[in-house]
Amino acid sequence: MLVLGIETSCDETGVALYDSERGLLGHALHSQVALHAEYGGVVPELASRDHIRKLGPLLEDLLGKTAVDRADIQGVAYTKGPGLVGALLVGAAFGRSLAWALGVPSTGVHHMEGHLLAPMLEEHPPEFPFIALLVSGGHTLLVEVQGVGEYRLLGQSLDDAVGEAFDKTAKLMGLGYPGGPALAKLAESGQGGRFRFPRPMTDRPGLDFSFSGLKTYALNTLNSPDISPADHADIALAFQEAVVETLAIKCRRALRQTGIARLVVAGGVGANQALRDRLRALAAQENASVSYPRLEFCTDNGAMIAYAGCLRLNAGQRDDASFGATPRWELQGLTAPQR
Ligand code: KG4
Ligand code: ZN
Repeated sequence: MLVLGIETSCDETGVALYDSERGLLGHALHSQVALHAEYGGVVPELASRDHIRKLGPLLEDLLGKTAVDRADIQGVAYTKGPGLVGALLVGAAFGRSLAWALGVPSTGVHHMEGHLLAPMLEEHPPEFPFIALLVSGGHTLLVEVQGVGEYRLLGQSLDDAVGEAFDKTAKLMGLGYPGGPALAKLAESGQGGRFRFPRPMTDRPGLDFSFSGLKTYALNTLNSPDISPADHADIALAFQEAVVETLAIKCRRALRQTGIARLVVAGGVGANQALRDRLRALAAQENASVSYPRLEFCTDNGAMIAYAGCLRLNAGQRDDASFGATPRWELQGLTAPQR
């Protein structure tokens, strides 16, 4: 089944074609970073309008470069939530209208399920069951995955998501939006050992996280006497080390608690090189495997939605007649694909 995937939940417009026989045929992405940069964060109304502007041309571009005829599309999957409601509605309206016009089925996909399944697009996909660490701008989740749609929540952030903590700390240092990649870049030139940030919630049992204190710790460090911009790289490195170490400690706990020896890391922060290196070392120590999507499929993209949608459409899942988006939607509420 040849499925068109559409991602419009936040500030990237993504489309992709995934075929259950032939795999990923191609994808196209338009990032709104430049549009939102001057505001220091995503402006929801501007995001919706830009998705409207870009979705059509992006699809034409994708059909052109994959040499696929529009009439060959056999199903349409779009991100139904969670995300910005206006942005989601653009993808839902576009996807469902197209499916209706082509006379093919459509289905709404959970954005975090897309992230979680993104490593399946790689050459050596992980087998079920696995532990997924989902780290994005809006979510920090540790999930036990038994199969598609079989998700047990092990832990989550009680306040800021990891990506959010990166973005807010970067903002304190005057780095642009999105702050995560900028902070990671700055940390590369940092000198270790000068600052030490706490590892929140690692001294007590459990798999939940809390990252808002790190941002406050960064603020206090930046405001302390004798700190100049020349120290920012060292502070960025100390912040990143604390985040990475905290995530590693919780991943180790999750692997040991469940006895599952496979770890999957996905979501925008999964693009962070220090995190990838640290979790690779952890997996080696724990005799476990670790899988990541390629860098471009860590952050938001259409390919992960096409893939997750293809699995669900293939299993017979279909939209009903009601139209809408689900801006708040818990991953653990999902079930295995069904009619
Ligand atoms: O998954 P994603 O593209 O969008 C959401 O669903 O939220 O994740 C975006 C988040 C942002 O907070 C961004 O700063 C962070 O991922 N991010 C990074 C890196 N690349 C993206 N954080 C740290 N290091 C990176 N290299
Ligand atoms: Zn995302």
